[in-house]
Amino acid sequence: MNVGTTIIKCRHSVRSFKPTPVEDQVIRDVLECARQAPTAMNKQPWLIGVIREQALLKQIADLTDHGKFIADAAVCFAVFGERDAKYYLEDCCAATENIIIALQSYGVGSCWVAGEKKPYAPEVVNLLKVPEKYTLVSLIPAGYPADIVLQKKKDLDTITFFETFEQG
Ligand SMILES: Cc1cc2nc3c(=O)[nH]c(=O)nc-3n(C[C@H](O)[C@H](O)[C@H](O)COP(=O)(O)O)c2cc1C
Repeated sequence: MNVGTTIIKCRHSVRSFKPTPVEDQVIRDVLECARQAPTAMNKQPWLIGVIREQALLKQIADLTDHGKFIADAAVCFAVFGERDAKYYLEDCCAATENIIIALQSYGVGSCWVAGEKKPYAPEVVNLLKVPEKYTLVSLIPAGYPADIVLQKKKDLDTITFFETFEQG
């Protein structure tokens, strides 16, 4: 058994959380994992917010369309990218996935909530008093799971190919 791939394969989006807080040491380690994500030209063009205050969580939740469950999360990570960095979106998505997988390794559930392309992105920047050179890429509400819903995944054979797609 491979611990790393098992953690990745066991991850499912969690939108229902127990009220149990996520430990500071877990949050710190998760942030370290975000920091280690790959970035184009090693620019690391990001800023990551950690929100635990209930009132702020509720305000963020209210701004979103499909993230109302943020209000009941123990913690929400907010990943912002420097809009002038050419690959900020890819870089911040790599950090986002690192955060999600690191949380999973501690048994903490989370869900990627869209930031980039959403009309509420600038409002989250304002609410959290983030400098304007940053734009919101993702929100990651997290907590110990109260409920997990499994989504069906496409079969591997239908989404992969080796060498060339067309044979011969
Ligand atoms: C870019 C992106 C944006 C997403 N935005 C939302 C969102 O706004 N609200 C939500 O509940 N889930 C959101 N999700 C989570 C997806 O709905 C979820 O990953 C998908 O249904 C597959 O389920 P799984 O994560 O359990 O494999 C988003 C995922 C990604 C990658």
